[in-house]
Amino acid sequence: MKNFVYQNPTKIIFGQGTIQQIGKEIKKHGIQKVLMIYGGGSIFKNDVYDEVVNSLKEHGIEYVEVSGVQPNPVLSKVQEAIQKAKEENVDALLAIGGGSVYDTTKAVSIGCHYDGNVWDFYEGKEKPKSGMPFFGVLTISATASEMNAGSVITNEAENKKWSCGSPVMYPKVSIIDPSVQATLPPNQTANTAIDTMAHVFELYFDGTEDVDVLVEYSEGIIRSTMKHAKILLEDPTNYQSRAQLAWCATLGLNGSNGVGRSGGDWASHGIEHSLSVLYGVAHGAGLAIVFPAWMKYVYSYNIDMFERFAEQIFNITEGTKEEKALKGIEELKSFFSSLNAPVTLKEIGVKYEDLDRIADNAAMQAPHGAIKKLYREDILEILKIAYE
Ligand code: NZQ
Ligand code: ZN
Repeated sequence: MKNFVYQNPTKIIFGQGTIQQIGKEIKKHGIQKVLMIYGGGSIFKNDVYDEVVNSLKEHGIEYVEVSGVQPNPVLSKVQEAIQKAKEENVDALLAIGGGSVYDTTKAVSIGCHYDGNVWDFYEGKEKPKSGMPFFGVLTISATASEMNAGSVITNEAENKKWSCGSPVMYPKVSIIDPSVQATLPPNQTANTAIDTMAHVFELYFDGTEDVDVLVEYSEGIIRSTMKHAKILLEDPTNYQSRAQLAWCATLGLNGSNGVGRSGGDWASHGIEHSLSVLYGVAHGAGLAIVFPAWMKYVYSYNIDMFERFAEQIFNITEGTKEEKALKGIEELKSFFSSLNAPVTLKEIGVKYEDLDRIADNAAMQAPHGAIKKLYREDILEILKIAYE
């Protein structure tokens, strides 16, 4: 196990009926006025908007709003919200939504404390020194953005979907009421599970040795995620499964699973972000396509873990190490298909002749990966495996 420092300052309030606490939590920080940031309107259909607004009113907190954050959130919306936050003199931000809304809010937070272009942070030209405090009410679990310090934003003018992370970007408080996720369409529940599993995979397969507790912890998250995703596709209002899946998602990327490791692989995420920016595909769906293809390309660089994965997750015990590893990858792909997620590029309308363009986009940040460093030609090979 490697040395580490772990400090996650986000307070989590979890459970059914907890959204009404948001006003009290914000008030405790001496906040008078917030900018609420949300997406395309799901919060009006499941009463989350009313619950939040009633709680703010009850605690005498003024609010203004920016709506219309889209999945795969864009820089222009971040800039619109920074301007609004400055004009309205708010003293905090409030995200109401999923990863896209949280990531936008994080960008707004650091952008409000910076005179230059907030994209500088995503290009790595500057490091954020501080940010406006922000709070959140989570409505879809997947990214763990509610309890981590990362943000992924698309610069739509430059076709770059890039990330930024800093200890100043943790939410102060996040409320997770899993019951509001009962209104998610089935494909978004599938995306929850796939992204959660992908975060665990990025760490699990990164090649770090002597992290037994993290390996077992990862396998626990993977098994529970698979179990409850399957239940929810049949029974979307099953609260206990919503709750367990939601907490799996938070644990997947709140840092608790990453400590003591060498930092994760993250090549599949890097390649997926190019699919999202070029084709508008949802992050989880893109990962269902990229991850099995990446696994097929790199498994020989960490064959022991791929064998263990096949044994522990899919009970594959017959065959050589390599046969087991490959069988495990096929089983994973079948599991993603069973959630009705796309598992090939062809299924989302990518043309074979477009693979070069996707590889070019992903290669802007190459090399990707830890167990094998991936350059443009490697990425192209993975895309070919993912094609059909
Ligand atoms: O916009 P609305 O109308 O709210 O609809 C949303 C959106 O269309 C809908 N939705 C959310 N809660 C709902 C609901 N529909 C019905 N009922 C509810 N309770 O779900 C759709 C997807 O929302 P989004 O926020 O985009 O999903 P997710 O949480 O999966 O976030 C994905 C984004 O996060 C980034 C991804 O790249 C992607 O841009 N990531 C962020 C990370 C981080 N900050 O640590 C790490 C991840 O690896 C990931 O890259
Ligand atoms: Zn992810």
